[in-house]
Amino acid sequence: MKKVLLSGVKPTGRPHIGNYFGAMKQWVELQVSQPATDKFFMIADYHALNFIQNHEEMKQNILDVVLDYLAIGIDPTQSTIFKQSDVSAHPELAWIFDTITTMPYLMRAHAFKDAEAKSKEIGVGTFNYPMLMAADILLYDATTVPVGQDQKQHIEYARDTAEKFNRIFGDTFILPEPLIMKEVAVVPGTDGQKMSKSYGNTIPLFATDEEIKKAVMSIVTDSSGGIPKNVYEIHKLFRSQLELDRLYTEKAGKYKDLKEALIADISAFIKPLREKREQLAKDKESVLAILKAGGEKARVKANAKMEVVREKIGVKLY
Ligand code: ADP
Ligand code: TRP
Repeated sequence: MKKVLLSGVKPTGRPHIGNYFGAMKQWVELQVSQPATDKFFMIADYHALNFIQNHEEMKQNILDVVLDYLAIGIDPTQSTIFKQSDVSAHPELAWIFDTITTMPYLMRAHAFKDAEAKSKEIGVGTFNYPMLMAADILLYDATTVPVGQDQKQHIEYARDTAEKFNRIFGDTFILPEPLIMKEVAVVPGTDGQKMSKSYGNTIPLFATDEEIKKAVMSIVTDSSGGIPKNVYEIHKLFRSQLELDRLYTEKAGKYKDLKEALIADISAFIKPLREKREQLAKDKESVLAILKAGGEKARVKANAKMEVVREKIGVKLY
């Protein structure tokens, strides 16, 4: 079986170091470690439409994610970078999945339950999110989906849906596996909870020095013990355990010094990424050309799979 890797992010705002260390970093590493594997990195703009319903904002966010992908080192000559909306087979297959999926099953999704806890007026698109994501993955015969821990359930939905379709219509889809980096499965935010755009506790991946300083200074420090846990947990991403333990022993209880050391480490790490991104942003035309070419490539693969699907379900008459 040919190995195919697929992942994506929603263009809903600036990425943060949680997105990077939890998911995106391994995409770049996989490019190096698995040169022969087909790789697809998607911008999930139709998923983002659940959250971003503003013409200008959507447009800008999509362009931003392409820049983010390129700046962290995703190489369009080795990987296909595309946006979901360029391949209409995604919502088409999601519809087909809807017809074999039950409401109680979708109501068990964590994301749905969270949305329900916050508001009674849940969009149909939010409810249906796992079916579109299943289509994203299954259309490309993806074997491996490198994501953060919080996406694990969505991949289980994709597997279950593939299994159910195969059972009803015959063998069609490959069951994908999640690839989750254990040691950084959940990057904590400045408040110690999971770092997330929606919690306002992030350190942006392409942050300016000012922003890094502000975010680190706002990290909540526990007053018991000499080691500020939240600072330490984030610091772990930037230094080896050995160096870190030495530093935190030497500066035990000196929270300000430790935060300053963290600021210096994050700044040194982000600077080259930020500069590369600024450089890329100057040539918008080339960036859009990469996205367009990626869409064309993805479309060929997805459309071929859709032909098989239409045949299996019995709607392909000629
Ligand atoms: P957010 O929660 O900020 O909206 P997304 O849902 O857009 O993040 O996630 C994009 C990718 O980054 C997913 O693969 C997700 O698992 C990963 N990710 C997001 N936040 C974290 C985190 N705090 N730690 C590890 N991985 C994360
Ligand atoms: N749901 C993912 C997130 O919130 C984004 C996404 C959409 C995705 N489709 C995907 C990730 C397919 C991996 C594979 O981060």
